[in-house]
Amino acid sequence: MRFTFPPVWKTALLLLALLLPGLSPRLQGDDEIVPVHIKPAIPTNTGLLREPPLDLTKFTRQDFDALSSSVGVDKIHKKWTAAVTPLPPHARSGAQGLTEEEVKTYMRQVRDLFDQGSAVPVSDVGLISTQEDIIRRPMLNHIAAFANDTARVYLLVQRTSTDKNWGYFSIVQDLTVDPPLDYFAEIKGAKVKFEGTGCYKCHSSGPLAIHPAREDLVNDEALTAAINHHIAHQPRSRIFFPPGDRQPDYGKPLEMKTCTKCHDEDCDRAPLYRVHSHPIRVLVDFGHMPPKHQLTAEEITELKAWLEQKP
Ligand code: HEC
Ligand code: HEC
Repeated sequence: MRFTFPPVWKTALLLLALLLPGLSPRLQGDDEIVPVHIKPAIPTNTGLLREPPLDLTKFTRQDFDALSSSVGVDKIHKKWTAAVTPLPPHARSGAQGLTEEEVKTYMRQVRDLFDQGSAVPVSDVGLISTQEDIIRRPMLNHIAAFANDTARVYLLVQRTSTDKNWGYFSIVQDLTVDPPLDYFAEIKGAKVKFEGTGCYKCHSSGPLAIHPAREDLVNDEALTAAINHHIAHQPRSRIFFPPGDRQPDYGKPLEMKTCTKCHDEDCDRAPLYRVHSHPIRVLVDFGHMPPKHQLTAEEITELKAWLEQKP
């Protein structure tokens, strides 16, 4: 009689085979070892979410691949050695403060690089934009990072699972001023429209790390880890509010010690205000924040009370 593995064993072995390559560290372009591991986003029932967690079980990996590829397969799934695509040096040497036109030129340049298939995008379904009441259906993202000595530039190409058209958004960090200044805009053809308050609601510290809605709804784990590493080590910056979109008074920042260790004026990440309640609710409930442990029941109650407090 020939020995065959019982079905449970087959499943276990298959799972092991699938998991092992993902767990081993890979070498990045700058010779730094970045462990490749997408932390699963699992709701933890903190009561912080205002809507029940969206059930995505019917949304398959095949659905993701098909919808994601509708942007043009030639533009995504790129082989890469550098996760951050180098840009040519800035044309105006010794610039101290980019002009708005120079910022817009960077934004159009990265859009064109993406459209020509010369960018290295991560494709995912983003957690923060998919959950809660913002859109409540899979939000498909392609995210690419670029840089030279003058600017760090990011592109987001985005659509929901039910929309037809892809929207283009960009962030430019002007590194020639101290602290660096982050410009946010939507790109529509030749038109680049700066925005402040709308983007700051989620982007409290400038570019956001990529957190997929489910660990299999992302095309390249190593690239995600490398871009997240780049974003987590970005300089502390401030956001440019265009004229006509002035920065409102956001009141007092979150003062809970478990958060202000990292999110405070003199820390890695900028302070958090009540206006950031959406990403706070999602990242804490889905176990991403704080990064290394879960909040105690008392801390959850304190955070919830703060989020619900009227200014
Ligand atoms: C509802 C929250 C939300 C708002 C509002 C928002 N973003 Fe984002 N944005 C995200 C999230 C979340 C990501 C990372 C997506 C992921 O995990 O796949 C992201 C990613 C990006 C990126 C790619 C670089 C990065 O940060 O990872 C750009 C560029 C971007 N957004 C631009 C904008 C602009 C411009 C605006 C305002 C017009 C804006 N965003 C408003 C949530 C938001
Ligand atoms: C050990 C440091 C650390 C602690 C403690 C921490 N965070 Fe974070 N937080 C980070 C880092 C690093 C990022 C960016 C990388 C990421 O999103 O994974 C981040 C990102 C965030 C973001 C997205 C905006 C941003 O800054 O990129 C929110 C919202 C957030 N954290 C909320 C919280 C809350 C609420 C707490 C307390 C319950 C908390 N964090 C505790 C380090 C920390």
